[in-house]
Amino acid sequence: MPNLSVSLWNIYLNHPVMVAAGPPGRDGESLLACARGGAAALVTKTISINAASVPQPNMADFRTYFLNTELWSELPLEQWLETEYSKAKTAGLPMIISLGYTAADIALLAPKVRPYADAVELSTHYIRDDPRPMQDAIRAAKDSVAVPVLVKLSPFREIQRAAQAAQEANADGIVAVNSFGPALGIDIEHNGRLWMGGKGYGWISGPALKPIALCAVYDIAQTTDLPIIGVGGITRGTDVIEFLMAGASAVQVCTAAITKGPTVFGKIADEMDKWMEKHGYSCIAEIQGLALKQPAPKMEKEPVIILDNCTGCTVCVTSCVYNALFMKDAKIHLRTENCAHCGLCLSRCPTGALQMAT
Ligand SMILES: Cc1cc2nc3c(=O)[nH]c(=O)nc-3n(C[C@H](O)[C@H](O)[C@H](O)COP(=O)(O)O)c2cc1C
Repeated sequence: MPNLSVSLWNIYLNHPVMVAAGPPGRDGESLLACARGGAAALVTKTISINAASVPQPNMADFRTYFLNTELWSELPLEQWLETEYSKAKTAGLPMIISLGYTAADIALLAPKVRPYADAVELSTHYIRDDPRPMQDAIRAAKDSVAVPVLVKLSPFREIQRAAQAAQEANADGIVAVNSFGPALGIDIEHNGRLWMGGKGYGWISGPALKPIALCAVYDIAQTTDLPIIGVGGITRGTDVIEFLMAGASAVQVCTAAITKGPTVFGKIADEMDKWMEKHGYSCIAEIQGLALKQPAPKMEKEPVIILDNCTGCTVCVTSCVYNALFMKDAKIHLRTENCAHCGLCLSRCPTGALQMAT
């Protein structure tokens, strides 16, 4: 049996899959549901000094991506402090409390949430590219509490600079990434009505965000030695393996816990466990950062065909834009002279019948 446990800043997790700040952690009751659903740690919905007034509608699911225009928590600070945090704490899991946004807000909020927090996570969603407000917020948190201070980055283009700035300000870890936007969704069945309320824009999360989030984790891992918690588009165990290989120490899940319900945390951890067992990995440390050690591949030769694996499904033939693959006797064959070594068929084949030549 592989050991999925992770220890981060003296916080013990029995596997790396936590809740991400958002609706799954919108109050104490929802956080308890995430704990019952198998989450290894709880992250609470971002609070700020004042309760948010959230546009409606604010969420829409398009399967490969999800749009939201939620802000921070609509519950008042007093309700969190009097009821919600202590209710969530009864789960007995590590709890990371998300706070926003300015240094002044954090200086006021951090000491108040301290009794419930195993760590605090600072949201930078509305701070944008200039790293100084983020650094001030980190310093305000460090001055107020002794627990680890994590900073959650939006997928800026300058993510390495942001991560370095966070490290300079003494953050203890990075959470990457928040949802990406602005983005737009149009309902063509209702005369072009926008899907999101407020200003009409939304932010992308869910599967479409995963490659952006993975790239952020991979880039940050190469610029800082801070622990990184990966978040963005995780729906299954193999997604977590990718984040760990990119350099993450743990992960968070938001959208999949909305669309599939809070039992998704335990399911993802089970899938990881099975994948690790099948591939002979015994612990998380054996997987973490593997992609960082790999040079980018060079495809100097055409793919190798393993005929025994070919089911004749023709998926590769249909998408071979160079007309290099064709069917013969219900199996794939290759016109070597047409092959452009683009590699697409390697990812399209569902049965591993096409492999990169070594
Ligand atoms: C409806 C919704 C509300 C969210 N609210 C917050 C929030 O309050 N604070 C925060 O830091 N991130 C918030 N997020 C961002 C998520 O925590 C997460 O970073 C992002 O959605 C990517 O992960 P996912 O693809 O697993 O959802 C929210 C996301 C969604 C979809």
